[in-house]
Amino acid sequence: MNIMNVDYSTKIPNNVNLTEDRQVLKALEGWHPGYLDWWNDMGPEGFQDSLVYLRTAVSVDPKGWAKFDYVRMPEYRWGVLLAPQDEARKVNFGQHMGEAAWQEVPGEYRAMLRRLVVIQGDTEPASVEQQRHLGKTAPSLYDLRNLFQVNVEEGRHLWAMVYLLQKYFGRDGREEADDLLRRRSGDADAPRMLGAFNEATPDWLSFFMFTFFTDRDGKMQLESLAQSGFDPLSRTCRFMLTEEAHHMFVGETGVGRILQRTCEAMKAAGIEDPNAVEKVRALGVIDLPTMQKKMNLHYSLSLDLFGSEVSTNAANFYNCGLKGRFQETKIEDDHRLTNDIYQVLKFVDGEIKLVDEPALTALNMRLRDDYTADCAKGVERWNKIIEKAGVNFRFELPHTAFHRQIGEFRDVNATPKGIIINDAEWAKAKGDYLPSADDGDFIASLMTPVSEPGKFANWIAAPKVGIDNKPGDFEYVKIAA
Ligand SMILES: [Fe+2]
Ligand SMILES: [Fe+2]
Repeated sequence: MNIMNVDYSTKIPNNVNLTEDRQVLKALEGWHPGYLDWWNDMGPEGFQDSLVYLRTAVSVDPKGWAKFDYVRMPEYRWGVLLAPQDEARKVNFGQHMGEAAWQEVPGEYRAMLRRLVVIQGDTEPASVEQQRHLGKTAPSLYDLRNLFQVNVEEGRHLWAMVYLLQKYFGRDGREEADDLLRRRSGDADAPRMLGAFNEATPDWLSFFMFTFFTDRDGKMQLESLAQSGFDPLSRTCRFMLTEEAHHMFVGETGVGRILQRTCEAMKAAGIEDPNAVEKVRALGVIDLPTMQKKMNLHYSLSLDLFGSEVSTNAANFYNCGLKGRFQETKIEDDHRLTNDIYQVLKFVDGEIKLVDEPALTALNMRLRDDYTADCAKGVERWNKIIEKAGVNFRFELPHTAFHRQIGEFRDVNATPKGIIINDAEWAKAKGDYLPSADDGDFIASLMTPVSEPGKFANWIAAPKVGIDNKPGDFEYVKIAA
């Protein structure tokens, strides 16, 4: 069997030779109906019968891996796809560095690995749940299609993690796979595991910010799991990253198109002051200060996903060869880090300071720093759009200490500039830093659906090119099919 191409003859498309892996095939087939129930209950609301122009992976060859066609989402071919195996691959970091990569789970690391897979797996269906109401207010068919593409692929990422659980973790893997369908985003009794995945995604600006910031956390986590010495996890994550790139494209271009439109509308109306919020809003577009507040919210929630700055779990994951650093194999050092230090931002004697910590325990901080650098590049691309439009405004990522629930800064109030303030000052200023109820109401007031092919809501610009090079008036979703 050609590992590059995907077998679509079975109910579960795959390139892992499922037809000859009877036990796992049976387990996955047993899980499938529950998955479909979950999709029907918690997937995009109101569009399950619509025909959506979606890409489906047909190969894992980076040169051409997807085909596009109209699909009803419940009939999407969710499959199990792993990047090709490299027979010579080694464990590339930690105490096992240089050993052949593991094709089976090492017994002593079973619990740790299962935890890594479950935490990653839990985020995938969570975002589908968070985004399930957005279809009703989509600003165009193009955007509606992109939302659904992201949703079906998050569903596939759940399949990817469930395959690992069922193939490599026996009975407890099967129980974990069932639990992934049982938890619900924002549920009081059985919430999703991580904070940002229990927040609401009330409007399309939130969706674009989420796919820019939170899917980018996903990218960083997948990048470090793609380094894993456990080869099936590495191969799974490498293919997921190919899909993830589109999710971040949706976020970056989505926000970019909103601010493009805002700047154009301001220019046309002769509004020079970007802080003239009411005047800008009167044009039916989203003012830039409100977009900055949304960015502050989503960035700070996403920083929390990296966990505590100093973490013995992170050190163990690395030491055992389970989870590496971002672009581990491109870093020039000993890949063991036993004698290294890394500077961690901490709250010491009322001040925010960089403190030397053992590099091993500081790995969460390091990954978060890599994430921040990646975010900052995207924010600069947004600033270029504003600059080109001739509007005098710049977006800025808030300080690490701002609005944190996890880690060093969870108990302090910091401004986006990183100045520590007291509770009373925070209560007074909060509305300047984070979206208020009024901001939310205003954004919500713009969220009226546009479903005519080629048309876009007033608050967002059209994209530069279509998906799959389709023309501007292409009917990406046949809603009443
Ligand atoms: Fe994902
Ligand atoms: Fe994603």
